[in-house]
Amino acid sequence: MNQAIAIMDSGVGGLTVVREVLRQLPQEQIVYFGDTARAPYGPRPPEEVVRFTREIAEYLTRYKPKMLVLACNTATAVALDDIRSRVEIPVVGVIKPGARAAVKASRTGRIGVIGTEGTVKSGAYEEALREISAQLEIVSLACPDLVPLVEAGEYESPLAWEIVRRSLAPLQDQKLDSLILGCTHYPFLAAPIAEAMGPSTQLINSAEETVREISAILSYQEDLAKREDGTPLHRFFCSGDSAIFRRITSSWLNQQVEASTIVWQVPTVG
Ligand code: DGL
Repeated sequence: MNQAIAIMDSGVGGLTVVREVLRQLPQEQIVYFGDTARAPYGPRPPEEVVRFTREIAEYLTRYKPKMLVLACNTATAVALDDIRSRVEIPVVGVIKPGARAAVKASRTGRIGVIGTEGTVKSGAYEEALREISAQLEIVSLACPDLVPLVEAGEYESPLAWEIVRRSLAPLQDQKLDSLILGCTHYPFLAAPIAEAMGPSTQLINSAEETVREISAILSYQEDLAKREDGTPLHRFFCSGDSAIFRRITSSWLNQQVEASTIVWQVPTVG
């Protein structure tokens, strides 16, 4: 089917999922929305994140997508069931795929989770991990300073290395064999995170497993997978400054992209 896959996040974090869609499913078309004017979602109360996610889901359905991906852990943690009950297309979140990937990769069962305050408070990762295995030892840590760095396009700066090192200090002696990057912004900081954790901790990026789930749904619902040839047309929207959004998107996806700012929700920014 020619319809796009709709992907949302609070900002540029969901691009880590977009990059994986482009790699695993290059024939698929994407319509992306980053709520950059209202990022970060992490410190916001759950009801507000649910409201924002509903608004974005409603906006994206104008493009008649065949699937909606909540490429945001914070939104997945509090809004996945709500959005599923509101739209008629399949809705995919990033937490269960992340938990699955971690359990597959872990040998010792000592798994760390880093995420936003909202995600960590929700306990959604613990729940998803324990559903797979009750034997795991899980250590969770909120890292509220990381998303603003990525949104500012500062993820390769010396400051980023310093802030990551400081943020992850509480995990240093935890003997974790796997660390779930429980926020889609964090793969932008994979190099400093890997350095801070050391070689005995592997980083788990849920994007790869999420896109495997997307792919499974598309091929299971056979009429959904796109088979026609031709270059797909991707659309990128953000609610904030489109210049910085375009710069980060083009550099992360390694291709020039056009991006427009959507002004429909600016009055509700707060
Ligand atoms: N990228 C999002 C996540 O995965 C949201 C980060 C934020 O806006 O605080 O949680």
